[in-house]
Amino acid sequence: MKELLIFYFSGTGNARQVAEWIRESVVRKDLKCSLYDISRTDVSEITINSDTHIGIISPVHGFNYPHIMLDFIGKFPKGHNRIILMDTRAGMKVGRIVTVGLTGIAFYLSALRLFMKGHKIVGMIPFDMPSNWLSIHPALRGKALDYIYDKNHLRVEKHVKRLCDKGKDFTALREFVQDLLISPIALLYYIIGRFFIAKTFYASNRCTHCNRCIEQCPNSAIIKKSGHPYWTFKCESCMKCMNICPARAIETSHGLVLLAILFTSLISSSAIYALLPPLFDEKWFNFLVINIVLFSVMGLLYHLQHYLIRTRLVGKIIRLFSLTHFRWWGRYTKNDSCYLPSKGKDL
Ligand SMILES: Cc1cc2nc3c(=O)[nH]c(=O)nc-3n(C[C@H](O)[C@H](O)[C@H](O)COP(=O)(O)O)c2cc1C
Repeated sequence: MKELLIFYFSGTGNARQVAEWIRESVVRKDLKCSLYDISRTDVSEITINSDTHIGIISPVHGFNYPHIMLDFIGKFPKGHNRIILMDTRAGMKVGRIVTVGLTGIAFYLSALRLFMKGHKIVGMIPFDMPSNWLSIHPALRGKALDYIYDKNHLRVEKHVKRLCDKGKDFTALREFVQDLLISPIALLYYIIGRFFIAKTFYASNRCTHCNRCIEQCPNSAIIKKSGHPYWTFKCESCMKCMNICPARAIETSHGLVLLAILFTSLISSSAIYALLPPLFDEKWFNFLVINIVLFSVMGLLYHLQHYLIRTRLVGKIIRLFSLTHFRWWGRYTKNDSCYLPSKGKDL
């Protein structure tokens, strides 16, 4: 390896941090290394020599790379480069162990696309960084973050050494069977993420309209609708907005999710049992109807919530039913950025 170009996508800073560690390690070996944030980079404007190694790193979202990364890989130019695929996944500290996340089809789908463009895959490496999915669990605390960061920093050194010495590193293949088994969920998540999870975010009446979420969203997924931030279907649920909001106004509407499920079960049971009798025994039909109803109900309720949220009382009730509003739920914000461990160095 003479030169390494790393293209990364990062919602809350984990993938960016791993990319930084790799750069430090590679530069220490007197090799050249540059980093590119794909949300701000047009790959067609970058000169890529045929003997340059390419590193690609992104968080896993729903057992796959997020859409923005899949799109980047789809647009990546044809060539004969050696490519190292990497991801950051959901790690948790349990005692002295860092639990491992699930990569799913992220590496295999991307490897296939890049292989078809003429490239050679020489690495598939997962890193179990702190889980950032704050819609479903509270933020990890300082010591757990430091511990997970230190473990991964050491792992970066080990993998860079292996890549330099052996020219390849397929650590991820150990999980091939489990990754394949969860592949159907990855496909399902692609739809659920876009049409359901994206509609769980809102800005509470604490919003000061500083527009930071809109300006810094890597997917340009947040727009202003009737003077208030509104999450479109482009949202990847990367969690950046929730963590960088200076007013801590961005929440996950757990109450809305409950309401949508409640309405869906009411509507779909009456539709299936009363209006569509001949087909109701078919499991696939049942599943299809329920999901169409669920996504439609969620969309409608999200609209309604958006317009009602500025009413003081309704705004308060919605916030009360958002677990993310509790102080102890926490955020990954430090020094105006995301996820910096307390004893780590600022980027
Ligand atoms: C919407 C969403 C989906 C996720 N899905 C997965 C997953 O399928 N497997 C996994 O191991 N981690 C998953 N995670 C956790 C993140 O991949 C992990 O925390 C990652 O390190 C975040 O990287 P970032 O800080 O660069 O965005 C998910 C996180 C979010 C927000």
